[in-house]
Amino acid sequence: MFNNKFGMFIHWGAYATLGLHEQALARYNVPRDEYESMCMQFNPTDYDPEKWVLLAKEAGMKYICFTAKHHDGFCMWDTKQTDYNIMNTPYGKDTLKMLSNACKKHGLLLSLYYSNPDWHYEYGYNPESKSHQWAAKYKNQVDTVKLRDFIKAQITELLTNYGDIYTLFWDIPPCIYDPSLNELVRKLQPNIYINDRGWSEGDFSTPEREYESPNSAHFTRMTEACNSVGQQSWGFRKNENFYSKRHLCCAIDRYMSAGASYLLNVGPNDKGVITDEYRKNLMKVADWYNRMEGALESAEADDTDYGIRHNKYIASSKNGKTYLHFYEGLISSSVALQNYPSVPKKVRLLNNGNELMYELTLLPEFIDMNKLEQDKLLHIYGIDIDNFADEPIVIEIQW
Ligand code: GLC
Repeated sequence: MFNNKFGMFIHWGAYATLGLHEQALARYNVPRDEYESMCMQFNPTDYDPEKWVLLAKEAGMKYICFTAKHHDGFCMWDTKQTDYNIMNTPYGKDTLKMLSNACKKHGLLLSLYYSNPDWHYEYGYNPESKSHQWAAKYKNQVDTVKLRDFIKAQITELLTNYGDIYTLFWDIPPCIYDPSLNELVRKLQPNIYINDRGWSEGDFSTPEREYESPNSAHFTRMTEACNSVGQQSWGFRKNENFYSKRHLCCAIDRYMSAGASYLLNVGPNDKGVITDEYRKNLMKVADWYNRMEGALESAEADDTDYGIRHNKYIASSKNGKTYLHFYEGLISSSVALQNYPSVPKKVRLLNNGNELMYELTLLPEFIDMNKLEQDKLLHIYGIDIDNFADEPIVIEIQW
């Protein structure tokens, strides 16, 4: 089921060797021959997908979305459609098969990323004006019908040989409408969810990088947001510009409390390792996420106006409890709810798990002379904000 989940995005391909960007071929103007021979030398001798899977689990994640093929066209599985794949490198093993086995063994769902642009395929779709459609290898042979047959053959391999696939992440909308691709996907994997970057409408939308949605408490369709721990690249990058814990946690809290899934990306290096630096930047976020006790996963948006002033928040509910997400933290150590359904049984600060004090009271800033007894506010106080200044504050209320 597509209840909202936290997942790990993994951008990994031979481009990790350069340590620049997953699109280095185009963005850094690497000569094509050099790039392609580099791919054919790819030898990630330390690749151990169980380590990735265990790291994802440690971070509270429930699925991994893996780049089977990025724009460069180099395939990370045993494809029969092109020689440009991992089986023909010194490594010579099906990296996707290994990952799918590791996911199965440790109970993680597997999703696949697949790029529509293919800068290697001789008939690659290549209107140069369109984003990410960098010059195909044989410019004059562009043929979108052949390309679609090629994609269908690859998708058939991917959705037949690697067990259950949770979601399909097409990348770069091709600007051609052809529902037969998603139909094929659904025929091969009836329970799959498909994103909105493919050849016809999919099931869920994919906001990327920054928080784009208005401050609404819910999304109008299924949503999976994504970002990377680093700002410059999705693939492994030496000297990456890593986001702050606060920046990432704030976005994750906003998206997930409003019902969206969230993919946080890491880029393993050319040996197949998620380096200490990437791990550290992932775990600083996971440290906060894991203290949320699962409140973000499967959260349902709650549109109630609790009448809270001074702080931005999103409310969600789960198992009859209300969660107030102060995604930018709190400016002071208490919050007051003008509207509340009943006297709470228990109030907790999820950041440290401690119970919070509360009382029904009138507060000086709210008092007007006509206040009645029943207009008392629910005043939650003594919140340890300074210890959690770099993360969203989440309060759990059991009514
Ligand atoms: C953008 C980038 C691409 C990356 C993707 C992840 O489309 O261009 O390189 O794989 O975002 O969502």
